[in-house]
Amino acid sequence: MLKSIKSLSNSLRSSLALRSIQTSTAVHHDSLFVHRDTPEDNPDIPFEFTPENKKRAEAILAIYPEGHKRGAMIPLLDLAQRQYGWLPISAMHKVAEILKLPKMRVYEVATFYTMFMRKPTGKYHVQVCTTTPCWLRGSDQILDAVKKNLNLEVGETSKDMMWTISEVECLGACVNAPMIQINDDYYEDLTEKDTDEILNDLKAGKKPAAGPRSGRYACEPIGEPTSLKGEPTGPGFGVRADL
Ligand code: FES
Repeated sequence: MLKSIKSLSNSLRSSLALRSIQTSTAVHHDSLFVHRDTPEDNPDIPFEFTPENKKRAEAILAIYPEGHKRGAMIPLLDLAQRQYGWLPISAMHKVAEILKLPKMRVYEVATFYTMFMRKPTGKYHVQVCTTTPCWLRGSDQILDAVKKNLNLEVGETSKDMMWTISEVECLGACVNAPMIQINDDYYEDLTEKDTDEILNDLKAGKKPAAGPRSGRYACEPIGEPTSLKGEPTGPGFGVRADL
């Protein structure tokens, strides 16, 4: 009996020795989702919607039926962020107050979506997509071009509060990869030269045209269409004659 227990423990030990423990590398996001009171972000700093935005907030709330007003949370947080430039904790409290919700319900949403900036952000928020389709099409080079042009690293904001760089997941424009988003505009089919031109135009106070830089209008094929080129076939096409 003792012998068999010994041999079992030996075989367990040797099988454990063969098994390697797998770990993945720690992922460091460029945003901090835990709130820490700071001089520029603490609950004592008052936040109020401007009279114009109060009207907008009322119009947003009117879309949602009684009992479902909490559905307005993301649009209201977005409105607060557009007014303030980023989303301080006082703005989250204001939204909780308007929606008559516990503050925690608002924290949960505001910290889940990376579109909400929880720290002071530059006038131009440059978001570089580095997810697989963009990466395969050279997003690493685009990110390097952005960092070099702005002399900033990912997650940093320039001292003059003009620029912030973020590295983000897919922005839904993969067919026009590689691409970046600057504030509300998408710039697509980019090369490093295009990226420099866009940033330099913004620095010069110009507004570069949003959209693809490859000459295509939207996301149609580059060059000639390769499918669906003939006249559409009529009803019954390809059906057996004896049916
Ligand atoms: Fe970049 Fe989808 S992977 S937009």
